[in-house]
Amino acid sequence: MSTTTLPASTPRLSQFVQQFSDLLDGRPAEAETLERGGELLAELIAHDDWLPAEYARPSPQRYQQYLLHVDARERFSVVSFVWGPGQATPIHDHTVWGLVGLLRGAEQSQAYARSADGRWQPQGAPHTLAPGQVEAVSPSIGDVHRVSNALAGQPSISIHVYGADIGKVQRSVYLEDGTRKPFVSGYSNPVVPAP
Ligand SMILES: [Fe+2]
Repeated sequence: MSTTTLPASTPRLSQFVQQFSDLLDGRPAEAETLERGGELLAELIAHDDWLPAEYARPSPQRYQQYLLHVDARERFSVVSFVWGPGQATPIHDHTVWGLVGLLRGAEQSQAYARSADGRWQPQGAPHTLAPGQVEAVSPSIGDVHRVSNALAGQPSISIHVYGADIGKVQRSVYLEDGTRKPFVSGYSNPVVPAP
């Protein structure tokens, strides 16, 4: 079986990975990681000319999450999320910090909060990310949301950075009645090489 070649030779992505690694070398607090890392991500997604086609491919079955890079020490991972028309995540958490930058199309995010009776309810209004915009999630600032493609007729693509090898993290999806289901997302790449 052949292995998937990650697009490490893409200059913009390579530069981003190096800058993000340098940032984490300074052992920043989470707030600084999100602020400075968000600026780096904004620079990466300011140009939509670098994501290889095989990492931008939607599936009619479900949204795709392609691993672009995982740090050798698993301090962070970079993933392209590709949403087909009408596709959405369940309500889910991350358990680690995350940055979401919209590369192409439009994406809607609805935060959720648990009410006193244990149900999950929308918290505030949904907001729409346009190309170039970045948002953050984490257990300390709000970690539960539901994300959907805001466009009915075309794919949307966002670039995500997480504070772990996110495809291997034990996480949860939730139903609005409070039911929790454990999940590990994995990746959509046919084969993901070890870091
Ligand atoms: Fe998410």
